[in-house]
Amino acid sequence: MADLIKKAAGDIAASRKIVALTGAGISVESGIPPFRGKGGVWEKFDPMEYAHIDAFMRDPEKVWRALIGEMKSTLDTARPNDAHLGLARLESLGYLQTVITQNVDGLHQMAGNSDVIEFHGSFAVMECLECRREIDTADVTLEEMPPKCMCGGILRPACIFFGELIPPEHLTRSQAISARCDLMLVVGTSAVVQPAAFMPVIAKQSGATVIEINPESTPLTHTTSDYLLKGRAGDVMNALLQEIEPPA
Ligand code: OAD
Repeated sequence: MADLIKKAAGDIAASRKIVALTGAGISVESGIPPFRGKGGVWEKFDPMEYAHIDAFMRDPEKVWRALIGEMKSTLDTARPNDAHLGLARLESLGYLQTVITQNVDGLHQMAGNSDVIEFHGSFAVMECLECRREIDTADVTLEEMPPKCMCGGILRPACIFFGELIPPEHLTRSQAISARCDLMLVVGTSAVVQPAAFMPVIAKQSGATVIEINPESTPLTHTTSDYLLKGRAGDVMNALLQEIEPPA
């Protein structure tokens, strides 16, 4: 592993157009559960019953009570961990330009990354289904279920449910950036949800080096990634930064 960390630090130092694609795994060390695997959200809830737009429209109260309310309580207090801070440091060192994230938790922006594409939207804002007004999630209380806008309309998070389109501007920009980068860090994603999981394929086909950071292998590992840095994102990022800028 030490050899691979050295190799990755060298690859990063030799690159100038780096993009990161992140998933739920990068926020696990911030106390946010992932979707798949042990302790994952989809272990408790069937996504088609709770995370599909049709399920939400059919019974918003059920989805708010089971899933969205709990997400709000967790995300309201979550803070960036060493992996988010490490990506922000890679930006301030001039290596990393853009983070494409499947996460809706806002932790990359909180850590200091300035160009974050929220591929699946954002949980920071709620939208009224009736008047379309946007309200900061921090200002929404869970006293009434489902929470409502001042016009009486039901609120929904500004992130996408299954069955909804990726915001087209996010998809187009992510594809273009993936095609132009010379290195992509793929951190904490199971890489099974499309079209996000296709971004590393675009990067690879365009000649970039693709490095995965994950405790487990994924469908990309033996097909698309150049190599896998196996471990928790925070630990791997700390080791990488130690190698890139050793303490004086
Ligand atoms: P998943 O929950 O599918 O995958 C999490 C990944 O993180 C797995 O590959 C884990 O091995 C890895 N992981 C776990 N702990 C980690 C750690 N400490 N450090 C690094 N990696 C770790 O999450 P996503 O790939 O983000 O979509 O899921 C993609 C999409 O599926 C989500 O955006 C969401 C979900 O349904 C929507 O809600 C539309």
